[in-house]
Parts: sequence; structure tokens; C-alpha cells
Amino acid sequence: MASSISFLLALSLLLISSQLCVAAVHSDVPLVKGLSWNFHHSSCPNVETIVRKHLKKVFKEDVGQAAGLLRLHFHDCFVQGCDGSVLLDGSASGPSEQQAPPNLSLRSKAFEIIDDLRKLVHDKCGRVVSCADITAIAARDSVHLSGGPDYEVPLGRRDGLNFATTEATLANLPAPSSNADTILTSLATKNLDATDVVALSGGHTIGISHCSSFTERLYPSEDPTMDEDFLKDLKYNCPPNSNNTTPQDVRTPNLFDNNYYVDLIFRQGLFTSDQDLYTNKKTREIVKSFALDQELFFEKFVHAMTKMGQLSVLAGNQGEIRADCSFRNSDNPSYLKSNVADFDESKSEL
Ligand code: HEM
Repeated sequence: MASSISFLLALSLLLISSQLCVAAVHSDVPLVKGLSWNFHHSSCPNVETIVRKHLKKVFKEDVGQAAGLLRLHFHDCFVQGCDGSVLLDGSASGPSEQQAPPNLSLRSKAFEIIDDLRKLVHDKCGRVVSCADITAIAARDSVHLSGGPDYEVPLGRRDGLNFATTEATLANLPAPSSNADTILTSLATKNLDATDVVALSGGHTIGISHCSSFTERLYPSEDPTMDEDFLKDLKYNCPPNSNNTTPQDVRTPNLFDNNYYVDLIFRQGLFTSDQDLYTNKKTREIVKSFALDQELFFEKFVHAMTKMGQLSVLAGNQGEIRADCSFRNSDNPSYLKSNVADFDESKSEL
């Protein structure tokens, strides 16, 4: 009897520990005021299941959309914080963030997917989850469903009421022609250190780039830091003024793994901002450590993404929960119409 009890005890311990192993990790990054790990626990308990289920279908049809969604969250967070401002269409106050040069190559489909997800979530729970939160969850799922780590995302962001100017967008998103020192200085203003910079750049393990984003490394003169065969292939695929695209990670373009860092060691990074992470002494050892140890890269990536995902967020009573990710509620005709209808009905009941 005693032996069967201890056997059952051992079995249940084993089961519990194996469940702990498969559960999503959450980083030890402190949470900012207003965000929590289980923010939608009672108001929309299935939000993350809804997003993941839909994205599995989307990526089955086109795996490239994962990269588009990951980049969208980065561009949202770096400019004015993770407030969904990049999702807003322009208005009388000027051109939207979307029209600023670095955002022109965001995939239009990524914006559609976010609003499809918003609709699925709001149909189920009502207007309780922000577009900014949906974008953060979608970025996490893009990483995980492409082979990367699964991790918990702090939630509770609210959507911003305004988008940033073109100048602010340009000032906050570094150019691919920047060297590592420039990137380190720029990201330090967001409290991101050298390990965060190298880890976040690993987002380039998936997705594509237009030739125009790195053409200055090919013409008129060739960048001597680039591997010669890689350069030849790029020139073949990217003749001058071409609008073609090329994978960012030449080894495993659709897999979220540590091959991006192997590319850098072989001098096959696409942008100066990538390749210089290996050339620069401040970041070279970090690149090597990630190339050698994928688990270490995943751990540092989750840490850095959790920091990035909390940049200048709106919470509590700030901002709003948009009824359509492209419009703030006061610019959204169907939202205003339905609220006027509610108001009229409530008046007629009096
Ligand atoms: C550190 C500074 C960074 C620079 C200079 C940079 C620059 C770029 C550029 C120029 C492109 C290609 C755009 C095109 O021509 O289509 C790109 C693509 C991409 N970036 Fe970055 N990026 C940076 C950081 C990040 C971060 C932090 C992430 C996410 C964690 C990220 C994720 C991506 C992804 C996934 C793509 C591919 C998008 C697609 O396939 O649609 N990038 N980036």
C-alpha cells in the first residue's frame, strides 16, 4: 500500500514538473503600473486562445505574415510607446505614422490581421481588449508559431488617441544603415542595453527585406565587410533600383531560431545595423554566445521583448479601447452611431 502511494506521489510530481516545463515562461522584468500577467482573466479569459487559434490558420496559408506582425509590434512600441498608434489611419491633423518612411514597408495585411483579431475578440468579450494588447499577443504568437519561445505577455495596455508625427517616427526607428554604436545609443534611450539590442535584432531571423533597405551596401561600391558569395547573390537578386525582396536569414528564413547570429559570424547579415553587431567589440561576444546557444538567445529575447512591450504604455483611465483599430472612437462613424442609438434608447426608457 505504502509503495503504491509513493509511486502515485512520484508520478504526480513527474506530471506536475512536466507541465511546468511545457508552460509558457514569463520573464523577471518588473511590470509597469497598470499591466498584469492576467489582466483579462475575468473580462476576456479566452483572448489568447482566440488569437492563437486564428493565427495558426493565417500562418498555415502564409507563414510570412508572422514576420509582418512581429515587426508591427516593434514599430508600435518604439514610437510613442505600445499604444496602437501605428494602427491609426491619418486624419485632418496630418499624415499618420503609417505614412512615415520606415512604416511604408510594414505589410498592409498585418494591419488587416490585427483588426480581424480585434473583431473576433470583441465579438466574444465585448470591447474590453485594446488593439495594443492584441498586437503584443500577436507578436508573441508569431515568434512561437515560427519555432521560437512561448512566453507570457503583460497585458492591460490602452489605445492611444493620437499618432506620432513623421519626425518623431523617424527619430525613434533607427535606419538599417546605422552602425552598432548608433543603435546602442538610440536604444539606450529606451532603457535597452547591449544584450537587449542584440537579442531584439534577432527578430530578423524571420521575414523579408526590400532591396532598397540595403542597396547602399551593394552600389555604387561594395561593402567590404560582406561575404563575397553572399554579396554576389544579393546583387543578382537586387539589380540597381529593384523593388525585389530577399529573406533576412539566408539559412532558415521562416524559422525563428538562432541562425541569424550564425549569418552574422559568416558576414551574411543583410543590414549594416545587423552586421556591425558582430564587427563592434561591444556586441561581438553577445552575438557569438547566441550563435552557440539557442536557449540563451530565447531567454534574452523574451526578456528584451517584455521590456520593449511595456515601453510608455497607457493604462488605467488613459487612452481608450478602440472599437476599430484604425480609428480612435471619436473618429469612428459606426462607433458614434451605435452610441447615439444606445443613448436614444436609454432616453426613451425614461
Ligand atoms: C535595431 C534596429 C532595427 C532596424 C534598423 C530594423 C530595420 C528593418 C528593415 C529595414 C527591415 C526591412 C523592411 C523592408 O525593406 O521591407 C526590417 C524587417 C523586419 N524587422 Fe527590423 N529592424 C530593427 C529592429 C527590429 C526588431 C527589434 C524587431 C522585432 C523584435 C524587428 C523585426 C523585423 C522583422 C520580423 C522584419 C521582417 C518583416 C517582414 O517580413 O514583413 N526588427 N527591419
